[in-house]
Amino acid sequence: MQNRTYIKDLNTKVGEEVIIAGWVDIRRDQGKMVFFDMRDMTGKIQCVTLPNSEAITLAKEIRPEWVLKINAKVNARPEKNIKIGVVNGDVELEVLTIEVLNEAKTPPFQVNENTSGINEDLRMKYKYLDLRTERMQKNLRMRDKIVTFFRNYMHENGFLDIETPIMTKGTPEGSREYLVPSRLEPGNFYVLPQSPQQFKQLAMVGGLEKYFQIAKCMRDEDTRGDRQPEFTQLDYEMSFITQEEIISYTEEMFIKMVQTVYPEKKIQQIPFPRLTYAESMEKYGNDKPDLRENKEDSNLLAFCWVVDFPMFEKDSEGGVQAVHHPFTSPKAEDAHLLETDPLSARANAYDIVLNGYELGGGSIRIHQRELQNKIFELLGLSKELIEARFGHMLEAFEYGAPPHGGCAQGIDRIVMLLQNEPNIREVIAFPKTGEGKDLMMGAPSLASDKQLKELGIQLKK
Ligand code: AMO
Repeated sequence: MQNRTYIKDLNTKVGEEVIIAGWVDIRRDQGKMVFFDMRDMTGKIQCVTLPNSEAITLAKEIRPEWVLKINAKVNARPEKNIKIGVVNGDVELEVLTIEVLNEAKTPPFQVNENTSGINEDLRMKYKYLDLRTERMQKNLRMRDKIVTFFRNYMHENGFLDIETPIMTKGTPEGSREYLVPSRLEPGNFYVLPQSPQQFKQLAMVGGLEKYFQIAKCMRDEDTRGDRQPEFTQLDYEMSFITQEEIISYTEEMFIKMVQTVYPEKKIQQIPFPRLTYAESMEKYGNDKPDLRENKEDSNLLAFCWVVDFPMFEKDSEGGVQAVHHPFTSPKAEDAHLLETDPLSARANAYDIVLNGYELGGGSIRIHQRELQNKIFELLGLSKELIEARFGHMLEAFEYGAPPHGGCAQGIDRIVMLLQNEPNIREVIAFPKTGEGKDLMMGAPSLASDKQLKELGIQLKK
């Protein structure tokens, strides 16, 4: 819109005539005069329509959430009406003309208030209205700042942003996978990635040395407050790197991020304390201890590292599964245990924890065929299955794979904790419900008979 002024800039234009555009936030009809607040992505401003103004008739008709273009004069507020510490608390608009760009039905909930107490299904169905609230806008803005910080930090440190496929083959991270049927090869399926794990390792074999990506990951697991079926990782991998170097790189990145984006917050202990998995389990009964000295302090950040995770654990069917993922290397001093007592072998694997939540984790990987094959065997995979699922990794390791390792941080959890939100749905623009549904779009939904036929799929009655 030509000559539009954003609401945040109005206090620099006292005495001038301006054009603003946005939504009616709240309206107070005071008989002769009409007061209302206008809202755009930058803030709110009080508008006053005087009794003799040409806009007064229309001003009496407008309702919250109508979309208006307003021509107005910026006035300094009378001394007694100045609101100190409030954006535009010292200015207001004297409305000259109003153009209604669109009317709005009465929203199912008020968007000029915090909606955290509103039924969440209703908020999800009308997510585009929920997004108008100050809290949601703030959360998404801070999310953008955090992601931008990470992206810049990675680039400043010589990492290359590499996109990896979404339609791919399974990469095990311990969850069920989402399948996408192939039309051209009926009976075959793509798998949506639980993480870019295999691709980032193959990028190391590809000589790229420093990879990163703000990566979408998909996991078909039961949704909880800190889990979504699709979520975002800050994913990175390096060649010729040690666990110590990855830990210190990551730690410095988090410290700088907090100092830059959340200067008001305090990190409880630097360097971040480190516990072994065994210590953490013994002392706290879990592997993501909440080390905050004062849990009431919303600005306190207690980071810690948990290291020396076991390689394997028993699964629910009595078999063995990887604690991190099967590409994780054993500690050199425990390698002999793979033969005798694999469940006691510790891994070069580490998690970073914040205020009782696992933020991220990583490991030094296996880069040799023989050892990788051995791990798959210990996990109970048959020769055929190893070849079918991971033959490409084993083969790649035979072509000069460098030693490598990396880490991935859960962006949603980071934003949730820094914004003091109770769950990650509050920091995701379009989240899914606990049942994995998108109530706004109505997903998942039925496929048409034609689509199923093309895919060679017949549904069971
Ligand atoms: P991992 O599986 O530990 O490691 O995941 C890393 C981080 O991703 C976040 N996360 C999730 N966030 C929201 N919803 C989910 N369902 C969800 N699942 C995981 C967590 C977690 O700490 N490829 C390895 C990393 C590596 O080895 O480099 C991996 O994905 O914050």
